[in-house]
Amino acid sequence: MPTIAITGSNHGIGLKLCRQFLAQGDDVIGICREATDAMTALGVEAITGIDVSDDGCVATLQNALGNRLIDVLINNAGIMGRET
Ligand SMILES: NC(=O)c1ccc[n+]([C@@H]2O[C@H](COP(=O)([O-])OP(=O)(O)OC[C@H]3O[C@@H](n4cnc5c(N)ncnc54)[C@H](OP(=O)(O)O)[C@@H]3O)[C@@H](O)[C@H]2O)c1
Repeated sequence: MPTIAITGSNHGIGLKLCRQFLAQGDDVIGICREATDAMTALGVEAITGIDVSDDGCVATLQNALGNRLIDVLINNAGIMGRET
């Protein structure tokens, strides 16, 4: 089964994606700054403390993943820009 890694997994669209991929039997790794109760309740494997705007977190994430292979990375974390 594929391994899906999702950033911004603690709420919103990222959390919903975690739920959907888990429901279809995939291995899901939720990546976020801080896990929410909803994410914990889902039982998704979590890697926390990752701020995608902090270059230093790349090494932290690499260490947390170890030799795990990721089939699909969904880089969902972010904020919507305001239209000008
Ligand atoms: N909803 C829409 O209509 C819409 C439309 C177009 C694009 N999008 C994009 O889809 C994505 C998800 O949207 P959403 O509606 O689910 O928004 P949301 O509920 O505000 O969730 C945003 C997610 O991104 C995380 N995040 C933001 N900045 C981060 C950072 N520097 N490091 C790590 N995590 C960070 C947040 O984590 P924290 O809890 O740590 O803040 C949260 O998990 C965003 O990238 C958004 O721009 C959404």
